[in-house]
Amino acid sequence: MIPLPNETTPRWDGVEPLECVMVVPETADVKTFVFRPPSGAVFVFRAGQFVTLELPLPGGPLHRTYTISSAPISNAYISVTVKAQPGSVGGRWMHDNLRPGMRLRVTGPGGLFHLPRHPDGKYLFIGAGSGITPLMSMTTTLFERGEDPDVSLVACARKPSDLIFRKRLEYMASRVGGLKLHFVVDQDEPFEVWTGYRGRFNQLMLGLTTPDYLERDVYCCGPEPFMRAVRETLQSLGYDMARYHQETFTAPVEHADDPPPPDVAPDPAAVAELIFARSGRTVSCSQTDTILQVAKTSGLNLPSGCTFGVCGTCKIRKASGEVHMVHNGGISDEDIAEGWILACCSRPIGQVEIEA
Ligand SMILES: Cc1cc2nc3c(=O)[nH]c(=O)nc-3n(C[C@H](O)[C@H](O)[C@H](O)COP(=O)(O)OP(=O)(O)OC[C@H]3O[C@@H](n4cnc5c(N)ncnc54)[C@H](O)[C@@H]3O)c2cc1C
Ligand code: FES
Repeated sequence: MIPLPNETTPRWDGVEPLECVMVVPETADVKTFVFRPPSGAVFVFRAGQFVTLELPLPGGPLHRTYTISSAPISNAYISVTVKAQPGSVGGRWMHDNLRPGMRLRVTGPGGLFHLPRHPDGKYLFIGAGSGITPLMSMTTTLFERGEDPDVSLVACARKPSDLIFRKRLEYMASRVGGLKLHFVVDQDEPFEVWTGYRGRFNQLMLGLTTPDYLERDVYCCGPEPFMRAVRETLQSLGYDMARYHQETFTAPVEHADDPPPPDVAPDPAAVAELIFARSGRTVSCSQTDTILQVAKTSGLNLPSGCTFGVCGTCKIRKASGEVHMVHNGGISDEDIAEGWILACCSRPIGQVEIEA
């Protein structure tokens, strides 16, 4: 039995593997996995942040990033809530193999999508599918503070039985007056009473669920087309987008009307050279290749997770040369100043030497 924390319990150091202590089925294709450090150390993180798990697949370790769905107020454990998509590798492995007693390497916590340190404001949380996970952590945090929160939470799913955390959210909303829940489904289910909204989340639903949305900070998480629809709705209504926050679980999709990148894009015709110092390999490539792509095609196994600059798993040190790096928050300015880069979103300019 892992000891419970007391006032002298140290913080989890990010090195000690975590033990899976419980697996909770949430919906037909979603499970929550609860983890504790065997030493009993406590977790310090912000509601909305994520961790990256190293999954011991038979073909070699696979890194997958998951939002912490538990709240930092319960610092003895963390949980992640994982959807196993059809044909998926990591999520499927977890659903089929991860059991209490198994230990995993975990890195983090990280991420910039989190509540402010003093979350006393008015919030609109909008989530779709597994995008509810950071919003669950935020809602639980505000609920567990002991003060009445001011939250309008809109949870969207394909059908009612796909709504993750429905019962726990309903319980919280039944104990405090300031948590208003709104469920939206694409379609209801036969022989089940459904009194929530039907259809895709739209401007009309925004006004009906949250008439004072202009006064609220918005936190949104879900598939990119869903978040794009939410952004466009808010923008068209004159909402101050400086108060809009979002988390993406997949690589951002580029659209023709997106603003151009902030700096010069690499030249596809220009040749670059990557020196992997530790492995003693030198590889010619294009300036548009990412360092991660070049490493993989050269048979070098650099750890990676999201592949779009969010999770930080592919952080490596650059010994010399210049790269063009456009990341999504997975590396700090201090790390960049010290010569670290993210291999998944760095493209070599000329000759670059990597400590790998
Ligand atoms: C910051 C962050 C937080 C996240 N939080 C969560 C969370 O809380 N919960 C959660 O469930 N996920 C979360 N994710 C997503 C998660 O990291 C994984 O991307 C997701 O679980 C899919 O990984 P997988 O290994 O299960 O699927 P993968 O094997 O990577 O497959 C993903 C999809 O691609 C398809 N696919 C796979 N291989 C092929 C192929 N060869 N050809 C065509 N299609 C293919 C699969 O069918 C599947 O639909 C988060 C991601 C990020 C970046
Ligand atoms: S793999 Fe996630 S930041 Fe590079």
